[in-house]
Amino acid sequence: MTDPAVNDQIVFFDTTLRDGEQSPGCTMHHDEKLRMAHQLAALGVDVLEAGFAIASDGDLESIRAIAKEVKGPRITSLARCKAADIEAAARAIEPAHHNRIHVFLASSDLHLEAKLRITRDQALEQAAESITHALRYTDNVEFSAEDATRSNPAFLLKLVIHAVSAGATTINLPDTVGYTTPDEYKALFARMKAEVPNSENIIFSTHCHNDLGMAVANSLAGVEGGARQIECTINGIGERAGNAALEEIAAALATRHDKFPYRHNLKMKQLYPTSKLLAEFISFGCSPNKAVVGANAFAHESGIHQHGVLANPLTYEIMTPESVGVPANNMVLGKHSGRRLLEQRLAELGHPLTRPELDEVYARFTTLADRKKSIYDQDLIGLLKPEDSIM
Ligand code: KIV
Ligand code: ZN
Repeated sequence: MTDPAVNDQIVFFDTTLRDGEQSPGCTMHHDEKLRMAHQLAALGVDVLEAGFAIASDGDLESIRAIAKEVKGPRITSLARCKAADIEAAARAIEPAHHNRIHVFLASSDLHLEAKLRITRDQALEQAAESITHALRYTDNVEFSAEDATRSNPAFLLKLVIHAVSAGATTINLPDTVGYTTPDEYKALFARMKAEVPNSENIIFSTHCHNDLGMAVANSLAGVEGGARQIECTINGIGERAGNAALEEIAAALATRHDKFPYRHNLKMKQLYPTSKLLAEFISFGCSPNKAVVGANAFAHESGIHQHGVLANPLTYEIMTPESVGVPANNMVLGKHSGRRLLEQRLAELGHPLTRPELDEVYARFTTLADRKKSIYDQDLIGLLKPEDSIM
């Protein structure tokens, strides 16, 4: 397999099993990680970050098992710029046919001074040394400049040029704390593309966190600036407010292909099954109003919307549920629903109504819906009066 990042091709780098897993409530057991990795391969992700090998023996073993068993994606492990991390990552990814070591080092002065207590020059040296070290074990090294979006732009450029000279072929510019805005992030990639020598041979990567709710928008803006790899997670799980949600990015690329004319290898109908599988393994599902895969993403309760969707789904659906693997849309009967859906539901239940009957039943339905939040089929049957011919 060759990395498919040429011009209009987006590389999907999934970090559900690393950045996603390291957030509260998202820890997975070995077997769960393995099953999830198989599902991510079925979804068609290009790069699968299976964990952080130095974090624990268990994580190293999970990455190694994924590297052995899961075919298709390039398997990677994260590593700090430390020899022990790189050795652990190398051991974990070794069985994979296509692998990568992903090394990272902070680039903002805040992180260099407060966390790492090193100078900018030491950072340049550590990054180059670690990339050289990692290249002993794989021919594919990614370098991430942690907190890139809060870094001094001139220093960031220098660090990236150092990393590229040392042999990194993917350069990731993470918005580690979800601080940037779409216009800023786009400009950052455009600048790197323009100023890093031989940048046409480098794949630049987005990695956005969602602290201000802009992770998906920022990722897409990064692509417009020249990035061709997107790092993201299923259901947007990840540190704090999460990472950019893979399914939202994929749906945006498909729905707004006019604006984002890129190709990718994802199998769109696997989006929903992948989201559901993850929810089985971690301690929370996604919120009902979560875009694309939430329970309400294709649900309609108001009469006006139901009427429109029954006439033509495009009135209130910008993608079909089936296109992202959701079995069907969902018409919910509630106090905002109109006669049309009530009539249709009762007919499906074997009770076709005449217009006067429908008017009567609808009056009783609205009274019921005012006091009962969820209306079930049995409630509807109960609304039919005994003297109705349809009973
Ligand atoms: O958010 C971040 O900066 C990261 C890096 C380690 C890639 O997750
Ligand atoms: Zn991250």
